[in-house]
Amino acid sequence: MNKRPWWKTAVVYEIYCKSFCDSDGDGIGDLRGVISKLETLRDLGINCIWFTPLYVSPQVDNGYDVADYRAIDPIFGSMEDFKELLDRAHSMGIRIIMDMVLNHSSDLHPWFQESRKSRDNPYRDYYIWKAPREDGSEPNNWGNYFEEGNGSAWTFDETTGEYYFHQYSSKMPDLNWECKALREEIYEMLNEWLDLGVDGFRLDVITRLKKMPGLPDSTLPPVPGKEPFVIDKNMCCMVDGIHDYLQELNQRVFSRPDCMTVGEGSGLRSWNVMDYVHRDRKELDMVYHFELAHLMRHQIPNALYTDVQTRWAEVVRGGGWCVQYLSNHDIGRQVSTYGEDGTFRIPSAKLLATLIHTTPGTPFIFQGEEIGMTNVHYDSIEDHNCLATLARYDKLIGQGMEPKEALLATEKVSRDNARTPYQWNGGENAGFTAGKPWLKVNSRAGEINLEKDLASDDSIFRYYRKLCDMRKEHPAIVEGDLRFYGEDEQVLCYTRSCKEETLLILANKSSSSAEFSLPTELKGKKGVLLLSNLSPDVLLQENMHLSPWEAVVFSIQ
Ligand code: GLC
Repeated sequence: MNKRPWWKTAVVYEIYCKSFCDSDGDGIGDLRGVISKLETLRDLGINCIWFTPLYVSPQVDNGYDVADYRAIDPIFGSMEDFKELLDRAHSMGIRIIMDMVLNHSSDLHPWFQESRKSRDNPYRDYYIWKAPREDGSEPNNWGNYFEEGNGSAWTFDETTGEYYFHQYSSKMPDLNWECKALREEIYEMLNEWLDLGVDGFRLDVITRLKKMPGLPDSTLPPVPGKEPFVIDKNMCCMVDGIHDYLQELNQRVFSRPDCMTVGEGSGLRSWNVMDYVHRDRKELDMVYHFELAHLMRHQIPNALYTDVQTRWAEVVRGGGWCVQYLSNHDIGRQVSTYGEDGTFRIPSAKLLATLIHTTPGTPFIFQGEEIGMTNVHYDSIEDHNCLATLARYDKLIGQGMEPKEALLATEKVSRDNARTPYQWNGGENAGFTAGKPWLKVNSRAGEINLEKDLASDDSIFRYYRKLCDMRKEHPAIVEGDLRFYGEDEQVLCYTRSCKEETLLILANKSSSSAEFSLPTELKGKKGVLLLSNLSPDVLLQENMHLSPWEAVVFSIQ
């Protein structure tokens, strides 16, 4: 019989190292900082860490621009620090997965430095080069995602008189996966990380490795404001042939025992994901999708939530797997986006956590979520760091918008919301650094920090701990079937059931109280309260009164 893979029962914690904990006062979080907090993470109950890129990088996109895949960037520490961290984490039962950016590298990577030297350089083919059109313009009309420069995904390089391709920044040229020599180098490098002892990989924009053969113009209309350039997913995302790369990656690397892979699933939906994650396909173990996270500024309507979760539960039931999350380093803080970060910050943070941890798949926590950290407001664009935020702001200013208005418009979706330093305590710089933080601390740090949270009877951190424990103790959380009941606009009502047990979850996802009648099928059931985010003695009754953002989990019979 197949044993259940470890990652199905895991709770993953994402560390954005730059902002986690600074041990040496240079204002940048580092590995020794993480080592000093491993006990805290163990106490939270997590058993896997995902590190966003730690490799040598000019940090144009905070490490997603890799200049050496084999070495730790000195701003984070040394390889020795990393090995120590790995050993210590393993001894506490915490696994480590590394972020791998295989779609592009930094323009300072030696491969690109070589590639740009001449058209017949042995590394030329590691990247995607193309001659200008007759009028000298870009080889096609594809746009870049960061809205950088004139918006094109091509940058002209004087030395060889050709353009190179980049879906993101011009400082992050796309790697050419058609090139076998490149693929071999990548496999070797990934295997070296596994040899070192890491437990798997998070794969950055992995659906984008394959580009449309011939790199033709897109026939879609340009996005207003980005003319003449077009963002056309069909050209670079999930293009036919992508599965050849993923299967080769799996054969050469990911199939090693206990290696976990999670793909960033740009473009993936429940109906097209199976080929990537079905266990028999031998590609990826799981992906995370954007069907909820793309809402960015909005509450999630219950009907939509129910629909998305029901469809992904089918993926899980059918032999695939997925991630449950509502935040990461690229989107706003979940309590500000989908919860309520004023009066109801604490119960809404706990309610959202309850949803993440009681729906099918592996829960991912993004650092700070477990203390209810919120979006940030800065007084000036100067305080921002995110490349995409700065480019968007410049664009709005270019279109004639007032600076204040442009700042408000950009900050709502800025990735910096998630990237502000971790708030450890109410002291200077929230206890994150003894120096000047690379990104300003959120002004709410005095009110929202770990020390204060732990001192309170209403701790969010301890609630997360209970959720992590529940995952270990209740098989229905990991493998139970999911079923939603009714279409109440305020209250979500669903069960998870397996042969051993049935759990019932009720969640009032709103800032007003709710009167809720149990659906007929559940009337008369006896319930034992397992978890509650507001009151310790809620009884399961036919007619329930739920306070704003109240969430309860019962074991029912
Ligand atoms: C992914 C990362 C993001 C990065 C981008 C380009 O979306 O999560 O932070 O900027 O890929 O590497």
